[in-house]
This record gives sequence, structure tokens and C-alpha cells, in this order.
Amino acid sequence: MANVLITGASSGIGEQLAKDYAIDGWRVIACGQSEERLRMLQESSNNIHTIKFSVTDTDEVMQAVAKLPQIPKLIILNAGTCEYIEHGRIDIALFKRVFDVNVFGLLNCIQALQESFDVNTHLVIVGSTASYIPLPRAEAYGASKAAVAYIANTLALDLEHLGVKVTLVSPGFVKTPLTDKNDFAMPMLVTPQFASQKIRQGIATGKTEIHFPFQFSLILKLIRLLPSSLQLAVIKRMTGRK
Ligand SMILES: NC(=O)c1ccc[n+]([C@@H]2O[C@H](COP(=O)([O-])OP(=O)(O)OC[C@H]3O[C@@H](n4cnc5c(N)ncnc54)[C@H](OP(=O)(O)O)[C@@H]3O)[C@@H](O)[C@H]2O)c1
Repeated sequence: MANVLITGASSGIGEQLAKDYAIDGWRVIACGQSEERLRMLQESSNNIHTIKFSVTDTDEVMQAVAKLPQIPKLIILNAGTCEYIEHGRIDIALFKRVFDVNVFGLLNCIQALQESFDVNTHLVIVGSTASYIPLPRAEAYGASKAAVAYIANTLALDLEHLGVKVTLVSPGFVKTPLTDKNDFAMPMLVTPQFASQKIRQGIATGKTEIHFPFQFSLILKLIRLLPSSLQLAVIKRMTGRK
């Protein structure tokens, strides 16, 4: 039986991945913080074993990893958070909260797991299409996910000598508790089931980059190629900014 470790498995995309891998016969180590949601997830399948820790706490992450009888070769680092700034005003506390989970939380997990990395390891890191282009109010979230993308792409180079495969996942809008808070239109919103299917398919076929929905990510990638002034004009129009 193959094993997979998933962070951020107590909700949204990670929860769906955990359930789908379990149905496919994988043994899933599902990580999160919410005891109640982890309990329900564990009760949903004999193939799911849950562990609770905060990715922001370096020692807690180290201890949780040290307790694992065996570290899975497929590791999906998906835990994340999103907060938007208001009226272009920088809020350091907000930036720190977002970077603490999305960037330092990711690094805490990699640091704790890296001694187990070998030629069979597949490290999957969840970023966001928000890192492709500047989006209104996403200074903290977009910058954190740009850092995540940079880390993933650089690790793909630097871990090559060990034979470690690194995949960056960049979802568009997915309907989860994270996006349920959004008060703006979310074009081409997809379900967690769709996201899970795309991610699992991409992992199974050994993709270095997984992005979806295709049309949405393609449009953002094309906008990214424009000169900055034109890029901003298109983004303003696209997001209804005057
Ligand atoms: N939904 C989208 O449209 C979208 C788009 C692009 C990228 N993403 C990325 O996809 C990933 C999953 O997002 P989602 O939409 O599924 O969000 P979600 O439903 O809010 O789930 C977030 C998960 O991350 C966990 N998490 C947050 N802070 C944590 C911490 N300090 N320690 C441990 N776990 C923590 C949460 O656990 P608890 O709830 O137990 O704290 C939860 O399991 C995130 O990295 C997000 O940035 C999402």
C-alpha cells in the first residue's frame, strides 16, 4: 500500500485529496489543526490516519514528523491561509500571519522532512495562480505564494542530485472555506473534487507544474507576458477597477 502525507487536510482541497487517495487505496497521513475535523476525517476511512500540529511551530512540526513510523515518499504540502489588505494599506501583522503559514509553515515542514528525502521522494507544493500577476488586495497572499513558487522551483533544481521530484501546484479559484470568505466575483470557480482530480492526475503523470482550470491559468500566464503598463491596464479592466 502506498503512503501519502498531506498538510492542510482538515479542510478544502487537502481534505478532498485525503479522501480521494484513501478511496484509491493509499494510506493517508492527514495533517491539520482542527481536532474535530481531523476526527471526522479519520472516521471516514480506515486508510486515513490524522495528526495535529501547527505548521508555524518549528518544534511541533519536528516532533510530529519524528513520531511517524515511516515518512511517505509522496508529500503534499498544502496548508495555507489567505488574508487581503484594505485600501492598499500595509498591515505588518497581517503580512506576518500570512507569511508565517504559507512560507515559514512550508519551510518548517520541508526542514522536518528533508532527512528522509531520496530518489523515490515526490514533494508536491501548493502555491497559487495569484502569484502569476498582481491582483487587487492580494499584496500579502500573492507575495507569499510568489515566494512559495520560487522555493518550489528552486528546490526542483537543488534536490535533483538526490533524485527528488518537486511539483508546484497552482490552483485558480476553488470553492473551499478559504474562498467562501471572498466578497468578490471568482471567475471559473471549480470544486474541490475537480481540484483533487487535477492534482492527483498531475502527480501520477509526474508533472513538474500543475495548474488549473486550464483556461483561467492560461489567461493569467498570457497577461504575465505583457509589458507592465499594459498588464496593469488589463488587470484593472478584468477586476472592475476604474
Ligand atoms: N481555494 C482556492 O481558491 C485556492 C486557490 C489557490 C491556492 N489555494 C491554496 O490551496 C491550499 C489549500 O487551500 P483551501 O482552499 O483548501 O483552504 P482551506 O479550506 O482554508 O484549508 C486550509 C488548510 O490549511 C490548514 N492550515 C492553515 N493554517 C495552518 C497552520 N498554522 N497549521 C497547520 N495547518 C494549517 C487548515 O487547517 P485547520 O483548518 O485545521 O487550521 C486547513 O486544513 C492553500 O495553500 C491555499 O493557499 C487555494
